[in-house]
Amino acid sequence: MERLPKHVAIIMDGNGRWAKEQGQDRLFGHYQGVVSVQKVVEAATELGIQYLTLYAFSTENWDRPQPEVTGLMTLFVDTLSKEVPDLHKNKIKLHFIGNLDMLPKEAKMALDEASALTAQNTGLTLIIALSYSSRWELVEATKNIAEKVQNGQLPIEEINEATISENLTTSEFPDPALMIRTSGECRISNFLLYQLAYAELYFTDTRWPEFRKDDLVKALLDYQSRERRFGKTSEQVQIN
Ligand code: IPE
Ligand code: IPE
Ligand code: MG
Repeated sequence: MERLPKHVAIIMDGNGRWAKEQGQDRLFGHYQGVVSVQKVVEAATELGIQYLTLYAFSTENWDRPQPEVTGLMTLFVDTLSKEVPDLHKNKIKLHFIGNLDMLPKEAKMALDEASALTAQNTGLTLIIALSYSSRWELVEATKNIAEKVQNGQLPIEEINEATISENLTTSEFPDPALMIRTSGECRISNFLLYQLAYAELYFTDTRWPEFRKDDLVKALLDYQSRERRFGKTSEQVQIN
């Protein structure tokens, strides 16, 4: 319990394939995926994980068939209105990252309300990446930094790694120590590219709608069996 990652990030993948395997349409998979979100949030709270980031919808996902996109937006709004009271009761602080201006107005309003309501909570920080892509985020960060340079607020020689981190949507959070992706795909898909620089990556074949506390614990145990060397030698990290 002392060696838990402070921040876990998850690419929740495989809803569509799972649904197809059940003879259902893709949206059914997304609805079942919400159950997994509930279970994993519960488990993370119980375990005392401080930050949990869930990749719910990518910038690229806007290119999916319109009925799926609309269905997902409805699902976000409905789930939020249903779940926020309980999340609030459990002291969970909700935070949304991504190009939120692209969301339908009702969805954007629901997110803003949920973040405002839970802003002072001190339990798990639950970060939902929505209409998010890392390259979009890096472009925005670059524009912000360039603007400060142009205004004379930031001398170029003062730009360092912290400047980049501070201009990302995740500026308030530590970098994820563990990144989990479900459903067998071994790729990052434009997720937190800068922040995952030294994360431990964990891939499982389990489809997201079937992912439960046991699966999270398995990933955490795997994480704990690894030696995080950050460029040093094994001997060096063992001394410290
Ligand atoms: C992840 O499941 C959920 C979203 C990307 C919104 P998918 O919908 O990508 O499921 P597969 O990968 O097609 O099985
Ligand atoms: C990544 O899943 C995005 C989310 C889980 C929200 P995708 O299923 O969209 O990823 P690719 O395109 O197959 O890599
Ligand atoms: Mg997928």
